[in-house]
Order: sequence, then structure tokens, then C-alpha cells
Amino acid sequence: MELKDRVALVTGGAQGIGRTIAEELAGLGAHVVLADINGEGAESAAEKIRAAGQKASGVRLDVSCAQDVQSVFDGIIKEHKPLDILVNNAGITRDGLMIRMKEDDWNRVLDINLKGSFLCAQQAAKQMMKQKKGAIVNIASIVGVMGNFGQANYSASKAGVIGLTKTLAREVASRGITVNAVAPGFIDTEMTRVLDEGVRQKLIEQIPLARLGEPEDIARSVAFLVSDRASYITGQVINVNGGMLM
Ligand code: NAI
Repeated sequence: MELKDRVALVTGGAQGIGRTIAEELAGLGAHVVLADINGEGAESAAEKIRAAGQKASGVRLDVSCAQDVQSVFDGIIKEHKPLDILVNNAGITRDGLMIRMKEDDWNRVLDINLKGSFLCAQQAAKQMMKQKKGAIVNIASIVGVMGNFGQANYSASKAGVIGLTKTLAREVASRGITVNAVAPGFIDTEMTRVLDEGVRQKLIEQIPLARLGEPEDIARSVAFLVSDRASYITGQVINVNGGMLM
């Protein structure tokens, strides 16, 4: 029970990687708040965690809306205590070749993936600074490091998340807060299930471990980074990609 008595917020916790991260942290004893634009999905995922005898609650949150973020973070202090752990996981794709990309597709992806991570980290840091401890993990992506056809908006947002991670890490280190990023490769979730079988096979050929990742592969890395075992690790990007990028 490494995370006993800690309060953790996982954005985008209703499904996929976020949900698995929430289950992992709850399994280690944390009270996990699953926050998602799909509020019902977040609550039903939290319900399953509670049914397993662990602590969780679900809340609706649009990470790109500063007012929403403020009220969810205020709620955490009222209902629990200041936050110990933040996982900025909420993210979307709106793919298309750069030459034809609509401004709205650029804005929405940047607003959720990058601005959303900033807004949540800002609120979390305020709570963590008072207690002089805390851990923030931002979910970046392999394509934020290497780029990807059809993902100008998404790769720019994830490269931005990496820059944000390093700057926050420097700004809050003296307050006992660590900030790291996990950069997943291609993980088997709804986000990648839209790829057709031919594209999936081509991807797998580029992965030395010869499979897509599972959400658990990411969740275990996050659990390590927010635990006391990682207390001397900050400002790092942990690549969890089956060796696709070395
Ligand atoms: P997913 O699409 O299965 O889940 C994303 C979750 O975020 C959903 O529950 C959705 O409702 C929520 N969400 C969307 N917009 C939101 C908003 N404005 N506010 C709050 N919640 C919102 O995606 P998946 O695959 O679980 O991805 C999770 C994270 O991992 C994302 O940041 C994604 O970019 C990143 N990632 C995923 C990879 C993959 O291969 N699946 C690879 C690399 C990174």
C-alpha cells in the first residue's frame, strides 16, 4: 500500500490509459479522483474501483476550461485534503495532413492536450507547494519526440507537454514536488483502435518488442514515478514504447 492516504487526480480517467492508471494507483492505496469530460464514464469507472474495496470518486471535468479546473480542484480540498498526485492524461487526436488541417482541429487538440495539462498542473502545484510535497506526471507521446504523418497538432501538443514538464520541474523542485512525463509508444486503446489492420501491422514491424503496448505498461511506469521510490527523479521523460524509439 505504497500510496496509502494519498489523494490522486487522474484526468481522462473514464477509459483507456487514464482508467488503468486510476485502477493501479487505487490498488496501491490512494484515493483516486477520476476526472473526465465524460462525467458518467468517470463515475462508473470509480464505482468499479469502489466495488473492489478501494477508494475512488468520479467527476466531470473539461481540462481545457479554466473555470471547470478551478472548481474541481477546490472540490478536492473541500472533500479530501490537498492533492498529492496529479496525472495529466486527458488527450485527443484530430488527425489530418498539415496542409489541409482546420484551425479548429489545431486549437482543440492544443487546448486539451497542452493548455489542459498546464491549467491542472497550475492548480495542483498551488496545493502541493503548501504541503511541500507532491508528484505530477504528464502523459506525452512518442510522436511528441519523433513527429508523425498527419499529426501536426497532436505532435506539437505532446512536444509542448515535454517542454512544460521540464520547466515545471525546475520551478517547483525546491518545494519538494517532482514533475515527470511518460511518453507512450502505440498503446492498444480506443485511440489506436481506429487504425486499420494494415497500419497496425506496419507499426508492430517497427517495434522491437513486436506488440502494441497495453495500458498497464503505462500505468506501472506512472505508479513508479509517483511513489517514494522515484523521489530523486524529476524533469525526465520516460519512454515506454517497446523499443520503437531509442
Ligand atoms: P482515450 O481516447 O481512450 O481516452 C482519453 C480520455 O480523455 C477519454 O476518457 C476522454 O473522454 C477524455 N477526455 C477527452 N477530452 C477531455 C477533456 N477536454 N477533459 C477531460 N477529459 C477529456 O485515449 P488513451 O489512448 O487512453 O490516451 C490517454 C492519453 O495517452 C492521451 O493523452 C493520449 O494522447 C496519450 N497517448 C496515447 C497513446 C495510444 O497509443 N493510445 C500513445 C501515446 C500517448
